[in-house]
Amino acid sequence: MPVSKDLKVFTGNAHPQLAKDICSHLSMALGACEVFKFSNDNTFVRILENVRERDVFLVQPCSVPVNDSIMELLIMIDAAKRASAGRITAVMPYYGYGRSDKKDQPRVPITARLLANLIETAGANRLLTVDLHAGQIQGFFNIPVDELTAVSMLARHFQKMELDDNIVVVATDAGDAKRARSTANILKAPLAIVEKVRTSNNMDQIESSNLIGDVDGKTALIVDDEIGTGGTVISTAETLHRHGVREIYCYVTHPVLSGNATEVLNDGSVKEIVVTDTLPIPDFKQGSNISVISVASMLAEAIARIHSGDSIGEMFNDMH
Ligand code: R5P
Repeated sequence: MPVSKDLKVFTGNAHPQLAKDICSHLSMALGACEVFKFSNDNTFVRILENVRERDVFLVQPCSVPVNDSIMELLIMIDAAKRASAGRITAVMPYYGYGRSDKKDQPRVPITARLLANLIETAGANRLLTVDLHAGQIQGFFNIPVDELTAVSMLARHFQKMELDDNIVVVATDAGDAKRARSTANILKAPLAIVEKVRTSNNMDQIESSNLIGDVDGKTALIVDDEIGTGGTVISTAETLHRHGVREIYCYVTHPVLSGNATEVLNDGSVKEIVVTDTLPIPDFKQGSNISVISVASMLAEAIARIHSGDSIGEMFNDMH
């Protein structure tokens, strides 16, 4: 996928491998820049090539340490703006703080909105992202947002596996039913929903018990946007096993895998968990039942299309 020389891609320290893979699909070199911290903990960025009037893409998901990843991105945007870049696109394959998207308790912030303000104020002209926790986050921005989805790619992975004809797609809560419905349509399978009840702000305590739909004797495919502690997937799996499911698979787009999630997920209740590489998975977080599908080619195609002014929607015709 060769592209014109006006396109430049740079990355900070959040996920350099993904940025390299994107550039390899675009048949271009990753732009040179240095991004590091001084001994006083201040982040320094220097773009080491001319970006004047160029179409600049900065690849930086919100990986751990999340706040450092965000700060690096903001400073890179500022550096590109002050170097007279023609257009700056923040490429955030995983948009952090996505779960803080509403004021659902007294005196809490809407941090997903704050992050949008920060990205815009720093000088980004566009945002390119993958599977936002809630699509409405697009509306927190006054600049164009292109939200790609890994649903089609992940659903097709399971389609190729030809699991069996008796598959049921399971949403981990009513709010996520739309994503699961798209998957069910692609797999021509029925949909079930497990009601999720979080019992604390600390997120670790989850009770999911009520099941809507028929799963008895079926192979279940649990679908979610991200795995944090693993609690949601495991409690959903427990509910499904209680209702007579035969075997459980799972896919999520974003492998946050916080704390001991990898261990929690390897309790034998879920046969395979397929995730994408919107976030890096360090060696200590790899699990024998976790496999990864890359979004690099999808992001590369989106970058090429944004650069040339082609439709992004056409990439997802099978979803409509
Ligand atoms: C939340 O509503 C999301 O869709 C995921 O279900 C959640 O982030 C998973 O978190 P955890 O793995 O900690 O249960």
